[in-house]
Amino acid sequence: MVYQSDSQLSIFPISTSLDGGGSLTIAGHSLRQLAGVYGTPLYAYDGETVRHQVQVLKTAFSHSYRGEALIAYASKAYLSLGIARKLSALGIGVDVVSLGEIKFAQKGGFDGGSVHLHGNNKSEAELQAALDWDIQAIVVDNLDELSLLEELAARSGKKARIWLRITPDLEVNTHPHIETSHSGSKFGLHISNGQAAEAIRRARSSRWLRLTGLHMHLGSQLFDPEPYRLAIQKLYALAAEQQFIPEELSPGGGWGVRYTTDDPCDDSQPWVDAISRTVHDECDSRGWPVPRLVIEPGRHLVARAGVAIYRVGTQKDTPDGTHIVALDGGMADNPRVALYNSQYTALVVDRPLASDKLKSRVVGKFCESGDVLIPEIDLPHVSRSDFLAIPVAGAYQLSMSSNYNFATRPCVLWLEPGRVEVLQEREHPDQCQWWGGCA
Ligand code: LLP
Repeated sequence: MVYQSDSQLSIFPISTSLDGGGSLTIAGHSLRQLAGVYGTPLYAYDGETVRHQVQVLKTAFSHSYRGEALIAYASKAYLSLGIARKLSALGIGVDVVSLGEIKFAQKGGFDGGSVHLHGNNKSEAELQAALDWDIQAIVVDNLDELSLLEELAARSGKKARIWLRITPDLEVNTHPHIETSHSGSKFGLHISNGQAAEAIRRARSSRWLRLTGLHMHLGSQLFDPEPYRLAIQKLYALAAEQQFIPEELSPGGGWGVRYTTDDPCDDSQPWVDAISRTVHDECDSRGWPVPRLVIEPGRHLVARAGVAIYRVGTQKDTPDGTHIVALDGGMADNPRVALYNSQYTALVVDRPLASDKLKSRVVGKFCESGDVLIPEIDLPHVSRSDFLAIPVAGAYQLSMSSNYNFATRPCVLWLEPGRVEVLQEREHPDQCQWWGGCA
C-alpha cells in the first residue's frame, strides 16, 4: 500500500496496512496478535521492505554507474544469523568490524570475496581471521595497522588484499557522535597530515600487501550528497598525486532515513548520482578506467523494515504538566535517543488513526531519567491493554542494545505474508551465565 509521505504510515514498513478493525498489520500479520504470541518488547522486520531497499539501490546504480557496483551491508546496523542468511541470499556483500561479525557473516552464508573488514583497532585475531578467510579487502585504518598486517601476512605466507581508509578532513552535517570525516576523527588515514599518502606508498612497496582500493566513510544519517562529491574528488586527487589507479572504490555508507515525517526525503537517487557522476568525471579527466564501487549502507537497508512493539504500562502526570506513558522497554533496547537525541514517533497498534490526542512523553522502564523514547508526542488516550508501535526501529537499536538493569534482549521476528520466522529468541533471565552464573 502506498501512503502519502506526510502520513505516519509512510515511515512504517512497506507492507504495513490496517485490518478490518483498523489495527496495524505488517505483511498481513496483526501486530496485536504477534505481541500476544511472542511477548513485548518485540521487534519485527518486514522482508518486503528489506528486499525493496536493496533492489532500489541496485537498480539506481545499474542506471547511473558505468562500472560494476556492489552493495555490502554494514552489519553493525543489525546482525543475527537469521538476517545474515536473508541478506546473503539477496546476493549482496557485507562489511564486518569484529571477530563476532566475521563468524556470523561466515555462518550466514556470505562469500568471502564480498566481505570487507573495518575497524580502527583490529586485533591480531580479527586480522588473522580475515586473512584466513581470504576476504575481498581488509580496510587498513592507520599506519600502525599497516605494519601489523604486513607482519601477519608475511607470517602466514599470504598476500593481504587491502583498501586504505582515507579521511578527507571535511565536515558533514549530522550528530557529532556519528561524524567520521573531520580532521579530528579517530578513523582512517588523514589526507591533510600526509598519512594517507604515506600509507599508499608503503602499501604499494610491500611484498605482503596488495592495495586494490580506497575507502571513505563520512558519517551516518546524511541527507546531503555534496560531501560525497567533495570527498571523492579529494580521494582522486590523492590517488593521482601518488599515481595510483584504484581498482575498487568504497565511498562508505551513511545515507539517511526518515525517522519522523518531519525528516527530509530519504530518496537515495541524489546520493547514487553524486557518487556515480563524480567517479565518472574524476576517471574520465585522467583517462582512468572506472573502479568497481562497493557501497556500504547499513541503516538505509534495514531501518525502515523494523518496527518495535511495546506494551503500555504505568501512566502519570507530573507537577510541570507532563503526561508520562511508560513502556516495557526503553533505553536497553533502544539507546539511540539517549545517545544522539534521535527523534521517533509511535502509533497505537489498535487505533493508529485515532484523533483524540494528549500531549505525552513516552518513557522506558529503566533506572535513569535519560530513558525517554519520545520526549513529546500527541498520543491518543491509552491504557494497559494497548500496544505502541515505534517505526524505523531496524538499525542500530538491537545492535546497540544492552542488558542494563538485567534487561533481557527482545524477541526479533522476520515477517512474510503467511509466515513468521524468529530471527532471535527473547533472552531469558535464567540464561545468565555471562552475568556471573545462575543461583
Ligand atoms: N561503513 C562504515 C565504515 C561505517 O562505520 C558505517 C557506520 C557504515 C558503513 C554504515 O553507515 P550507515 O549506512 O548505517 O549510516 N550507532 C549510530 C550509527 C553509527 C554508524 C557507525 N558506522 C546510530 O545509531 O545512528
